[in-house]
Amino acid sequence: MTETSRVSALPVTRPPGCPFDPPAAYATLRATEPVVEVRCPTGIDAWLVTRYADVRAVLADRTMSSRGAASLHILPNAGRDPVQPGSVIQLDGKDHSRLRKMVIAEFTVRRVEAMRDYVQAVVDSHLDAMLAQPGSADLVRDFASPITLLMISELLGVPPGYRRQFQRMSTTLLSSDTTPAETQQATIGLLTYLAELFADKQINPQDDVFSRMIVRGEADNDPLTIAEMAMLALNLVVAGHEATANMIALSTLALLEHPAQRDVLLEAPQRAIDELLRYLSVVQFGVLRYATTDVLVGERMVKAGEWLVAALNSANHDEQVFPHADDMDLSRAASRSHVAFGFGAHKCLGEQFARVELQEALTLLFRRVPSLRLAVPREELEYKDNTLVYGVRRLPVAWDEPAEIPSGTTDPGELMPFPQADRLAADN
Ligand code: HEM
Repeated sequence: MTETSRVSALPVTRPPGCPFDPPAAYATLRATEPVVEVRCPTGIDAWLVTRYADVRAVLADRTMSSRGAASLHILPNAGRDPVQPGSVIQLDGKDHSRLRKMVIAEFTVRRVEAMRDYVQAVVDSHLDAMLAQPGSADLVRDFASPITLLMISELLGVPPGYRRQFQRMSTTLLSSDTTPAETQQATIGLLTYLAELFADKQINPQDDVFSRMIVRGEADNDPLTIAEMAMLALNLVVAGHEATANMIALSTLALLEHPAQRDVLLEAPQRAIDELLRYLSVVQFGVLRYATTDVLVGERMVKAGEWLVAALNSANHDEQVFPHADDMDLSRAASRSHVAFGFGAHKCLGEQFARVELQEALTLLFRRVPSLRLAVPREELEYKDNTLVYGVRRLPVAWDEPAEIPSGTTDPGELMPFPQADRLAADN
């Protein structure tokens, strides 16, 4: 970027009134300066790319590097060199595709569908526990956060007896209320635990994602090291938990604000979930890349070595692609082409799984608790304005008693594992 550049700040402020709208500056930028220089909160200067077509072009361009890039524009210590082996989100080229190929087999539509019954059971058991409380709860603490963490521990093959400990470590790692030292300690603790878990799976493979990756890697003579698996698993914890939990809580709030849309959700949940993903675009500051070669983006020549921010929320609110983009319309047909999961080589590996989690969490919640409502005035809610993933910090909710509670409440931490092997065999 040239010294004479006029650099303004990355837009971060949302308009007052509606907590779901992206910063108003994006609409102006898309119309007037769709590729513009900005200074990011961590001090790096980048080209901010705001139009849908340009965002997709940047993310599809194999000359754009993700190396160390995931969130360096927002988190000062994220993604510095050296990139750790196994950190799929930060790798490029062959290192990236080798890892991605190993994981992607576990996240196909078919595999994820085989997990649906388990997801339902986890959601139901947490609803049972929540509804057993006298009339109110924090939907983030009591529902969205624990169910998504439990799903991740199931994916990683954490044995039932260790899940509560795993949840405690992950919660500390992902909390925005902890000090950098506490976060570092939790990261080391979690990586050590995961390394021990995978070392055990190398000797005693079970019917879970990482055991199957170990077996496949050995069969292909390209095994993942323990350190790679631990870092990959940490990527899944960080990427998989935070965005999904925030989506569940924020979608609940949006649906409480737009009661008519709840019927649309219950009638056609698949389409509705994609519209919620588009409308809310919780990866609020987009994703970072740097150019490894001179490249034209829109009408701007970006030089090798310069940074770019692909503004996912701006792209998802581009009126050229999504008419009335700032309206939430759960019957919108074009929602599926959103970029809330990114695009191109690094497109979210867990997108199908996240869709199933969101479908089951939101439909079961509104079906079983039709009287759900906010327990505090909306003005009292606090939002995660400065974290990578947008959301609501707490969501106090209430309902009319007696709520419908199915019998046989299960301890959410002790549910049966995914019935994958049986289900997949039965499908064949
Ligand atoms: C609503 C929920 C989710 C949203 C909005 C979301 C969003 C994203 C986005 C935008 C990216 C692209 C990052 C980039 O281009 O630099 C990404 C990547 C990724 N996501 Fe998700 N994600 C969600 C859920 C999940 C879940 C449930 C998992 C795993 C269980 C997961 C695992 C990953 C991984 C491993 C990557 C890195 C892929 C790669 O670099 O090749 N995500 N996600």
